[in-house]
Amino acid sequence: MTAQIIDGKAVAATLRQHIAARTAALGFRPGLRVVRVGEDPASGVYVRNKDRAAKEVGFDSATIALPASTTEDALLAEVARLNADPAVDGILVQLPLPPQIRADRVIAAVAPEKDVDGFHPLNAGRLASGQPGLVPCTPKGVMHLLRAAGAALPGARAVVLGRSNIVGRPMAQLLLAADCTVTVVHSRTRDLPAECRRAEILVAAVGRAEMVRGDWVAEGATVIDVGINRLADGRLMGDVAYAEVAAHCGAITPVPGGVGPMTIACLLENTLDAALARRG
Ligand code: GUN
Repeated sequence: MTAQIIDGKAVAATLRQHIAARTAALGFRPGLRVVRVGEDPASGVYVRNKDRAAKEVGFDSATIALPASTTEDALLAEVARLNADPAVDGILVQLPLPPQIRADRVIAAVAPEKDVDGFHPLNAGRLASGQPGLVPCTPKGVMHLLRAAGAALPGARAVVLGRSNIVGRPMAQLLLAADCTVTVVHSRTRDLPAECRRAEILVAAVGRAEMVRGDWVAEGATVIDVGINRLADGRLMGDVAYAEVAAHCGAITPVPGGVGPMTIACLLENTLDAALARRG
């Protein structure tokens, strides 16, 4: 079997075009502020890409760069200022934060209606209880990819590998909302390969390069690789051993060019949704 390669770059480009067209018809520019604390180089790349993509679709976007020595109180004051600014529809505080700042405090301080990351406990609770709200960008992007790939979701056995608040948990909720039969597996799961082999849809989000081997994946399964692992030699590698798995799965996302571009496109989608909800 030759696996279908799910082209995240193409799906993301289509979504961004759609967002740009809707934005042009608005009569105002949705406002996005991305807050970066410190000099983490990977965060620097992510933040620049988010800001550029937002400007390209016509948003009023700006990055607020704060020094690594910023106190938690100073960051909370900045978030409060953005919460109160009527020109700002979306606020994203890039993670990770320096050790003197408690991320959960900062996440909870963002106004839920401006929480375009979907990390606020209110939005997490809305997702878990099936109510509308802002949804984390990466799992939302995975749902777009599954639909673009033509995956049959209702009743499908879906396995999510990983239980982070950013990906694994909200991913499980979204698959459940789409009527999949969902299993979440993690580092304490007894037989990971056996659990993964039961999946018709497998979403890998553990942050371990090539952890998912060829014999972990059922014939014909749809495999979504959320991992972006930077190797010592600079190469990017997913959580899935691509060549082994692609040899017999039904469809697979590459790394790079799979989930990554969807995360940014969904941030734009969330910002547009937040702007429409706030401004009517
Ligand atoms: N760091 C890695 N991924 C993310 C994300 O989706 N949002 C934020 N705010 N920080 C991140």
